[in-house]
Amino acid sequence: MDLHLKNKVILVTGGSRGIGRAICEAFAAEGALVAFNYVNSQEKAEALSAYLQDKYGTKALNVKADMSKESEISAMITQVEQTLGAIDVLVNNAAVCPSGPITSYSTETWNETFAVNVTGMFIASREVVSRLLQQQKGGAIVNIASQAAFRGSTTGHLPYDSSKGAMVSFTIGLAREVSAKGIRVNAVAPGLVRTEMVAKTWEERKERYLQTIPIQRIAEPQEIADIVVFLASERAGYITGATVDASGGMMMR
Ligand SMILES: NC(=O)c1ccc[n+]([C@@H]2O[C@H](COP(=O)([O-])OP(=O)(O)OC[C@H]3O[C@@H](n4cnc5c(N)ncnc54)[C@H](OP(=O)(O)O)[C@@H]3O)[C@@H](O)[C@H]2O)c1
Repeated sequence: MDLHLKNKVILVTGGSRGIGRAICEAFAAEGALVAFNYVNSQEKAEALSAYLQDKYGTKALNVKADMSKESEISAMITQVEQTLGAIDVLVNNAAVCPSGPITSYSTETWNETFAVNVTGMFIASREVVSRLLQQQKGGAIVNIASQAAFRGSTTGHLPYDSSKGAMVSFTIGLAREVSAKGIRVNAVAPGLVRTEMVAKTWEERKERYLQTIPIQRIAEPQEIADIVVFLASERAGYITGATVDASGGMMMR
């Protein structure tokens, strides 16, 4: 199935590792021009750009930009436009996930989690939507939420869970506002996916988790990436404001 993504300009936040990396590769495989940012993993980011360009013959741009800093997000978006062209698709993927019971969290940790996971998404989306409206062209935003938005966590990630709930509400609210202008906004809610974010918890509690996952395994990042690429494509042209359940049956809402 041709997804008509060739030469589209895609910006993926947090593309250096895990699900974001798989999303970058899935778009590159469709012939899209892929930009992504990172905050710490410079070597991995540079290696990924080179890999995507070598393997898929497409342009790939990595940018160091902290999603908790408005000026860095704005500068990143300008750099992407100047290097690859006007952005067609934004994937809000970057996130942090501190651990502990409610009593262990400082207000700073709560605010830092929201700064990256929610405010960063808001700023990047506002900047991309504003340009898409100005250019009078359609586009797509895909937000990587989590099953934790609906079910919370059993391992103590309250700021993260709450931030993911905000992402789901943001997806609906923005979709209502901009869908008539040709901009679709959707989210994916993964369950457990094999990345650094959950590697330790998964190894420690594998048996317990498996009891809650009807598909009886952890997801691979590529499986989430495939959903994102579909949602961003014209083939998903009648889907907006949705949060796709990619939890291996954990949710079954
Ligand atoms: N893994 C799961 O089981 C799971 C389940 C549900 C939802 N999700 C969601 O899926 C998304 C990706 O998760 P993941 O498991 O792939 O995470 P991960 O392996 O921890 O990777 C996180 C990515 O976000 C980037 N990042 C973190 N803080 C940033 C900041 N302040 N500014 C810019 N980039 C930043 C990291 O960049 P650096 O490499 O530079 O640090 C990295 O590229 C997240 O939204 C997460 O909530 C994951």
